[in-house]
Amino acid sequence: IKKIAVLTSGGDSPGMNAAIRSVVRTCAYHNVECVGVYRGYEGLIDGEFEVLDARSVKGIINKGGTFLKSARSKEFRTVEGRKKAYENIVKAEIDGLVVIGGDGSFTGAMIFNQEFDFPVMGIPGTIDNDIVGTSHTLGFDTALNTVVDAIDKIRDTASSHNRLFFVEVMGRDVGHIALNVGIAGGAEEILIPEEDLGLERLVDSLNRSRKSGKSSSIVVVAEGDKIGKNIFELKDYVDENMEGYDVRVSVLGHMQRGGAPSCFDRVLASRMGVKAVESLLEGKSNYMVGLINNIMELTPLENAIKGKTKINLELLRVSDIMST
Ligand code: F6P
Repeated sequence: IKKIAVLTSGGDSPGMNAAIRSVVRTCAYHNVECVGVYRGYEGLIDGEFEVLDARSVKGIINKGGTFLKSARSKEFRTVEGRKKAYENIVKAEIDGLVVIGGDGSFTGAMIFNQEFDFPVMGIPGTIDNDIVGTSHTLGFDTALNTVVDAIDKIRDTASSHNRLFFVEVMGRDVGHIALNVGIAGGAEEILIPEEDLGLERLVDSLNRSRKSGKSSSIVVVAEGDKIGKNIFELKDYVDENMEGYDVRVSVLGHMQRGGAPSCFDRVLASRMGVKAVESLLEGKSNYMVGLINNIMELTPLENAIKGKTKINLELLRVSDIMST
């Protein structure tokens, strides 16, 4: 392998820049050329490439987002799109590809590998932490810290006004963010996509905590929570079924995906980039790099995309006990 390309795809996450930097510098360390591809698979199809050397990634380890930009490419889902991408890759004499993204991006990489027998390696980048084969995806830790900071601020105003706040956090399919920030932010209840708490239980629990002397409360709601009501409907339900609580809603949204990566994510990104490039150089392909028991391991892409990581039930129990 003499030339490796790197791209970021799907929803961005803090630490993607640090991972690009690591891929580029590991290539430089091994005297391999590195090419950055702009706008994910879209840039692969349009031939938007730029040669990157060790110095061209200076000053980005601490930056959120991805300087290579990201996209969700519809065209890459088609045979024609992937063929165009392959033709560009051949023309540019690229012989390995590192894809930084989530499960959708890995599915694309896997199909591309099958069709053209082209070496690919995945780095899991998403704040959702929903990818099998790593205890942490890139950006998860930063997002947790961002959300906890926001909840702390909401708590200040909630307690000043004796209010109940529903705080919506990201997590369309999984409750990892909600569960962790709920515990760290001292939430009364945590609503996640994996478990249906039930509206009555929610109201009972809030009533109980009122009676036990709590004057304000925070309920963390994952955007895909299983009760199946959106956060404003939840507010209306509690308004109708609870006496005297002043209820407010705060939807945190995309601010959760931005910001400078935490120390943990910068280190993780650096480790993942080294592992991804060196694995390609060892002739491995079609894997995702991941952190398992604090060791960098490879998981076949096929397994990485097979399902979502399960929530830790112990955390649910801890959260229950903490809200006593
Ligand atoms: O990055 C993952 C994620 O944050 C999900 O939790 C969320 O539902 C989704 O991305 C929203 O992304 P977009 O607005 O880019 O479609």
